Amino acid sequence: MNPGDDASFQSLTQQISDVEGLALHAYKEKCLRRRIAVRMRARGVHTYQDYQSLLQQHPEEYPKLRDSLTINVTKFYRNAATWESLADSVLPELFQAREGRVRVWSAGCASGEEPYTLAMVFADLADRLARRKWLNRVTIDATDIDRQCMARAEAARYRPTVFEEAPDHFREEYCVPVDDEYQVIPRLRALVQVRHVDLMRDPPLTSEYDLVVCRNVVIYFDRPTQEQLYQTFADVLPEEKGVLVLGKVETLFGPVQKRFTLLDVRERIYRRCA
Ligand SMILES: C[S@@+](CC[C@H](N)C(=O)[O-])C[C@H]1O[C@@H](n2cnc3c(N)ncnc32)[C@H](O)[C@@H]1O
Repeated sequence: MNPGDDASFQSLTQQISDVEGLALHAYKEKCLRRRIAVRMRARGVHTYQDYQSLLQQHPEEYPKLRDSLTINVTKFYRNAATWESLADSVLPELFQAREGRVRVWSAGCASGEEPYTLAMVFADLADRLARRKWLNRVTIDATDIDRQCMARAEAARYRPTVFEEAPDHFREEYCVPVDDEYQVIPRLRALVQVRHVDLMRDPPLTSEYDLVVCRNVVIYFDRPTQEQLYQTFADVLPEEKGVLVLGKVETLFGPVQKRFTLLDVRERIYRRCA
């Protein structure tokens, strides 16, 4: 398949950016082409020009394209070793130093499994330290660009399969069965605020976080956009205390590295330094 030349690709991505309000120019081009090709194959069109016309004539294709562009794969306790490292060494210190008033940002939270995992890990910690009341002081901003995903995060109802990597008691103690799904209990839902933030365009919701978790999101962004975002994360974290967690295949690079020290190289856990 030869989908067409650069001009028709630019024209198509400009149209998608305008209609969908996405900053597509800041996504990696190879990744964009691959994701658009998935939808073109599904609709049986072979050139970017034809796909652009199809979008104009059938705007109901846009949400499907958006789904393909914003890869939403996630689950509870994804990369268990990262959560174990956080629960063992990083979170107890934060939680105790701030007597529970920990402000967390789950940036690119998809359908909510990550921010609710955070809530569950804090619930475990509050139990372990016999400081159950402190749990209510934790706040977790869960942000994403994809409004359908955000709606799922707000509903906090999940199929049993997304708990497969998590400790059993996460589903048993922190969720209740509803039909053939599980819903996170109100006490933990109350810790999580789901908000729309486009990490390429919007400022953070606040300038004061203790912990920023941004995993498996920036891999789709080009390098200048990644670098800018890492600087933003450094800006919202307090010196010598704030903690940043990236995905397993993501890493800090460039001048922003000076603003962090590595806490756990394998799990991509960094501390903000002076
Ligand atoms: C693969 S999921 C990662 C979910 C979760 N952090 C995890 O690791 O399991 C990537 C998420 O990033 C979101 N995303 C992509 N581009 C974004 C942007 N510009 N601003 C905010 N979120 C974005 C997608 O909508 C998607 O929900």
